[in-house]
Amino acid sequence: MLNGELSLNYNHLLAHAIGTEQGLPEDALDSLSEAFAQVHPALWEKTGKGSDFLGFLDLPQTISSQLDQIQAVADDLAAQSDIHVVLGIGGSYLGAKALIQALCHPYHNELSRSKRKHRPRIYFEGNSLDTDSLNALRSLLPEGAPTELSEHWSLNVISKSGGTIETAVAFRFLRHWLEASYGAEAAQRIVATTDVAKGQLKALANKEGYRTFVIPDNVGGRYSVLTPVGLLPAAVAGINIHEVVRGAQDMAELCKNPNPSQNPAYAYAGLQYLSAAAGRDVSVMNIWDKSLESIGFWYDQLCAESLGKEGRGRVPLTGVCTRDLHARGQQLQQGERNALVTNLFVTQPQAELVLPSDATDSDALNYLGAMPVQQMLSSAFEGTNFAYLQDQRPTLDLVLGQRSAYHVGALLYLLEVATVAEGYLMQINPLDQPGVEAYKQFMFGLLGRSDMARYKDLFEARQPDKDAAIL
Ligand code: PA5
Repeated sequence: MLNGELSLNYNHLLAHAIGTEQGLPEDALDSLSEAFAQVHPALWEKTGKGSDFLGFLDLPQTISSQLDQIQAVADDLAAQSDIHVVLGIGGSYLGAKALIQALCHPYHNELSRSKRKHRPRIYFEGNSLDTDSLNALRSLLPEGAPTELSEHWSLNVISKSGGTIETAVAFRFLRHWLEASYGAEAAQRIVATTDVAKGQLKALANKEGYRTFVIPDNVGGRYSVLTPVGLLPAAVAGINIHEVVRGAQDMAELCKNPNPSQNPAYAYAGLQYLSAAAGRDVSVMNIWDKSLESIGFWYDQLCAESLGKEGRGRVPLTGVCTRDLHARGQQLQQGERNALVTNLFVTQPQAELVLPSDATDSDALNYLGAMPVQQMLSSAFEGTNFAYLQDQRPTLDLVLGQRSAYHVGALLYLLEVATVAEGYLMQINPLDQPGVEAYKQFMFGLLGRSDMARYKDLFEARQPDKDAAIL
């Protein structure tokens, strides 16, 4: 169990620490008991807004029966390739990237194959329309038939709808390049993760005989990290996906507690909700571990796409410390009082690193003695929090015992449940994303899709821009 291995400390958010003007009342969470009495059944009895997409809540249990199959396909891909390209955008890639950055060696792709434990290098594409990036990836791939293992490659294309243009365009390129390498055998090196029956990708996979994994109907893209969307790329990279799921399972038990003072997801949701309502609508996740930066980006998307609607929704931002203390740190310390900083801190590094002695002391660091770098980081963390406290700037601390597959699984699940709970406190639907359609309609109209012709007409009938540009 997670006992003491993941904690949420909100002392510095309350009035006793930062005063009544800036702090939340001491009974902040209790004041939400009635609201949570509605939120709890809306979630767990699946009666809330967007309930058709609440299937992610059950994934820690339901995915277990698929883990061996995911692992087997991952092992096969790893054995036959040294380069593995993952195509997907938004919820169809950020979870995989978060798991891989958090749990693989930070320089995974630069290591020799044996140091990578015979898992392939991993590249993400299909998450933009970027000529230079696609061309750059092309230059890493073999021109024709691979001659050595380091050139062998494989492809995982992920799209629930099966038609997202960024991913579909990249897939056409990559598919053609793979066919140039392997001819008719290319199909054996492609895995498609998509809907069980619908969409262009599913049709193509059926026609070409690709292996497929299913994104369940009742799981939305940004809540799909615990499906093959996140778990297959993670397993290809060598991550222990059973441990990721075990962490989520243990967290799920804690998240079933109806009391917001005892349920970490509800406490997190409630405190973010109350802070935003009190005008702290910029929420910065300061991450004190470089490897967790992609978890910050995953959470940015989860939060922004789930809560940013109906003219509301706090703005999530990711920072890495101490790096960003030399950037955004200034603003958080002395800028407008509109931010809540959530620190994500990992107590235990993977291995200790101690400052070496130097008799000359020419860098004047000898006052540190043989200090572990982690101790320096802890001092920076505590010092920063105290500096914010001195100026009545609120902070919230999410502390993980270690950066392990188990802890990361628990954390991701906590943040998913918290996001939906916060959406329900706001009385919005946190599981849809109607606003994402607007750009697509105009883009497809301009790209000449006949069913979007009216958007092209609207665009062409627009008021001409005034001459308010220079150079
Ligand atoms: O959370 C979501 O639903 C989105 O971010 C999707 O994941 C994203 O738009 C990609 O969609 P698809 O998987 O259909 O290609």
